[in-house]
Amino acid sequence: MKNIPHPIQYQGSKRALAATILKYFPKSIDRLIEPFAGSAAISIAAAARGLAKRHVINDINKPLAELLRLVVEQPVELASFYEKLWMEQHSDSLEHYYQVRERFNRTQDPRLFLYMLARCVKGSVRYNSDGMFNQSPDKRRLGTQPKTMHKNLIGVSQLLKGKTAFSSLDYKAVFASARKADLIYMDPPYQGVCGDRDLRYLSGISHEEFVVALARLNARGIAYIVSYDGRRGERVFGELLPNSLSLMRIEIEAGRSSQSTLLGRDEITYESLYLSEALVQKLNHLPVYRPQSSTQQYMLLEPRRLYEKTSQRVP
Ligand SMILES: C[S@@+](CC[C@H](N)C(=O)[O-])C[C@H]1O[C@@H](n2cnc3c(N)ncnc32)[C@H](O)[C@@H]1O
Repeated sequence: MKNIPHPIQYQGSKRALAATILKYFPKSIDRLIEPFAGSAAISIAAAARGLAKRHVINDINKPLAELLRLVVEQPVELASFYEKLWMEQHSDSLEHYYQVRERFNRTQDPRLFLYMLARCVKGSVRYNSDGMFNQSPDKRRLGTQPKTMHKNLIGVSQLLKGKTAFSSLDYKAVFASARKADLIYMDPPYQGVCGDRDLRYLSGISHEEFVVALARLNARGIAYIVSYDGRRGERVFGELLPNSLSLMRIEIEAGRSSQSTLLGRDEITYESLYLSEALVQKLNHLPVYRPQSSTQQYMLLEPRRLYEKTSQRVP
């Protein structure tokens, strides 16, 4: 999706997949709830298309959730804070980064976090076992120019201001407030990195607890979408969600692996998108998904037939 503002660089952002994921949104959504918001790429893209009346943005990482709130509610103040901080780095930019990082770890000031994310290696957050941010600076780039940042902050604010609630809770607490007219989009932390402790994010989640929580949403008739496991070639990343949840599983193309291209294996990465039964019942028609660079086509069949299996692939 072109021209969608994106002020926050964040590893694992769904920005590039947003257009595909939004195809599975129902026509009418009261609140779009994002319990694992990260950079809130899906909420921002959905707001740009006017898909939901209201939004709930949550992330357990408190400075991140607070930063998202500032982006929406105080974009002008945040932009000038960023500009001032960004300009300071020119005398010794690496030393400046380490100083800001030390200040951030001490104060948890979300405004400093915006700069850290713009300036660190690939926007990829890393934490040590004490929960201290320890990612290094990108030595080749100085981070988003203040002018561009200003434009992106104002852009996101215009899309979400006045209709968005922010929180920093565990996802299960966010589920509790969901109603039938809402849609929950979930992109939990990657599985299987270090058990429950994924150092790439501040917190990981347990697969078993997550499955139980999804079963409870099913029992309440809540519509939801989950981005979960992935696959490159025959190699699967993470556990699939079980058949007992009666989800429709779609594989969407997430890109080509540069590593396997170098090795002469032109492998594509796919990510699973799971649609809940309550959501499928709301969709008037199911979009047919055709990956651009694959010879295979992944197609959706009639919902009821799909419930027979978790996943259907039609060559
Ligand atoms: C894969 S990232 C989401 C990326 C997001 N889709 C985007 O486009 O930027 C997962 C997020 O879940 C958050 N998280 C981890 N455990 C959580 C929990 N128990 N409750 C809520 N959020 C959690 C992490 O802080 C992280 O930001």
